[in-house]
Amino acid sequence: MAKTSPASDQADKLRKIVRSLREKSGSIMDRAVQKSINRARLIAVTSGKGGVGKTSITVNLAIQLCRSGHRVVIIDGDLGLANVEVILGMVPRYSMYDLLNSKLDLSDVLIEGPAGIKFISGGTGIVELANLGRQEFDRILCSMAALDNYADFILVDTGAGISSGVTGFLLAAREVILVTTPEPTSITDAYAVLKVISQNNANCSVRLILNMVEGPREAEDVLGRLNTAAERFLGTGIKSLGYLVRDPAVGRATKMQTPFMVAFPNCAAARGIGRIAGRILDNTEYHMESEGVKDFLTRIYRSLITP
Ligand SMILES: Nc1ncnc2c1ncn2[C@@H]1O[C@H](COP(=O)(O)OP(=O)(O)O)[C@@H](O)[C@H]1O
Ligand SMILES: [Mg+2]
Repeated sequence: MAKTSPASDQADKLRKIVRSLREKSGSIMDRAVQKSINRARLIAVTSGKGGVGKTSITVNLAIQLCRSGHRVVIIDGDLGLANVEVILGMVPRYSMYDLLNSKLDLSDVLIEGPAGIKFISGGTGIVELANLGRQEFDRILCSMAALDNYADFILVDTGAGISSGVTGFLLAAREVILVTTPEPTSITDAYAVLKVISQNNANCSVRLILNMVEGPREAEDVLGRLNTAAERFLGTGIKSLGYLVRDPAVGRATKMQTPFMVAFPNCAAARGIGRIAGRILDNTEYHMESEGVKDFLTRIYRSLITP
């Protein structure tokens, strides 16, 4: 009868330990890969003119998407006054600027908002990207890429118009929501934004939200006017995501520094947000791929360093 020596017992034990370690590290690797596979769907919310409701729409849409079971992060890219923090009534300690200029981590600058949304205050972070060397940019990219693990949706509230900070987002985005009111100057400025996107970012899907309209008829009318100009001069139409009526509850909620989806969840504007979120989630209507943060930021960087 063959007897196992203490030495071969020892070797057996070692082999078992190594095997189990390999299996464990394999599953850790699998999980890491799985995590990095998650890619957020990035949507830039923009407008030609300021004060048309971009920030209100971004914040409330984020809340609705969250309520439908999705994880949402807002990047506040608007350097104006009426920005995300004002609507949420929160004062963030850090902004993306700190991510670029100090050793802070993404989790330090990511703030928890109402109804489960998270947001990052942009500060002057985006414009700063242009001043970074390749190595620094790669460091930021690595920490920002972790956003894909926090979010199914990333909504970027851009500033209005076509300044350099805004176009960075618009030329990098694959999906843009363009907000306009029925006011003629707002429509003209929305058309100007559409023109910049269609001439410089052909792969981008732009959809319109008509805000502060009287009702569906006025929304149709504004959409029709923009479409006629876009088809004639840009050779492309524009689709609508829906409309929000002018609703006094929005102003009331703004004064309370509480999103209207929270303060007045049944108001007319909230119902409009519900319809719009439904369309965004309806991938049979429009198939949108989630491409993740990394590609998006890399394109922003490229557009900033090669104007
Ligand atoms: N559907 C709406 N009905 C009534 N007021 C609105 C509506 N949408 C936005 N507002 C108001 O318009 C103002 C500008 O909105 P805001 O979201 O800050 O615009 P932007 O981000 O485009 O500058 C705010 O006072 C807001 O309360
Ligand atoms: Mg705003």
